[in-house]
Amino acid sequence: MTERDDGHLTVVRHPLVQHKLTLMRDRDTSTAVFRQLLREISLLLAYEVTRGLAMTTRRIETPMCPMEAPVLEGRKLALISILRAGNGLLDGMLELIPSARVGFMGLYRDEETLKPVEYYFKVPMDLADRLVIAVDPMLATGNSSAAAIDRLKAAGANDLRFLCLLAAPEGVARMKEAHPDVPIVTAALDERLDERGYIVPGLGDAGDRMFGTK
Ligand code: URA
Repeated sequence: MTERDDGHLTVVRHPLVQHKLTLMRDRDTSTAVFRQLLREISLLLAYEVTRGLAMTTRRIETPMCPMEAPVLEGRKLALISILRAGNGLLDGMLELIPSARVGFMGLYRDEETLKPVEYYFKVPMDLADRLVIAVDPMLATGNSSAAAIDRLKAAGANDLRFLCLLAAPEGVARMKEAHPDVPIVTAALDERLDERGYIVPGLGDAGDRMFGTK
């Protein structure tokens, strides 16, 4: 169901994830349905990206007897949405982890150089004390993702994970080279990038599909 390479990349091959992803890839899927599917898929991906969170136990009483029951240790978590498409993944994540702190990072991709340009950065102060999960649906060239992680590390983050919907081999390689300590969780590893830096077969521009801007 879940395929891992050397621990750096996890592809979530759960049937529900793959089915929903196929519907999202379809060019005839409407904006409203695309958005709904992204929210649903992000719940399932959130399950995978939070795997291994530290647990402790709490003494409770069931109607039958007392027991030491497992609960999350309560380590603080920060979700960082890489604007604008990251917000689609963020919404579902927050449904599952409502107490997470949230940050936003605005990066746009210069269409000529394909290099990231930062235009907004607002994150929780205490990133060093938190597990930080950066979310961006499309890991394409990896340039903006690697730059986002650079920036989060510079802001103090030292325990990071990266969640995306689709990844290109080029982006995974770039991230692995720049940030081998940051595990990536994705729903699919696609074939390649085209000459404009779009993922193929992909799903097109995630932001445009999500917000109906094309
Ligand atoms: N960003 C997108 O929205 N889609 C791609 O295919 C690549 C980057």
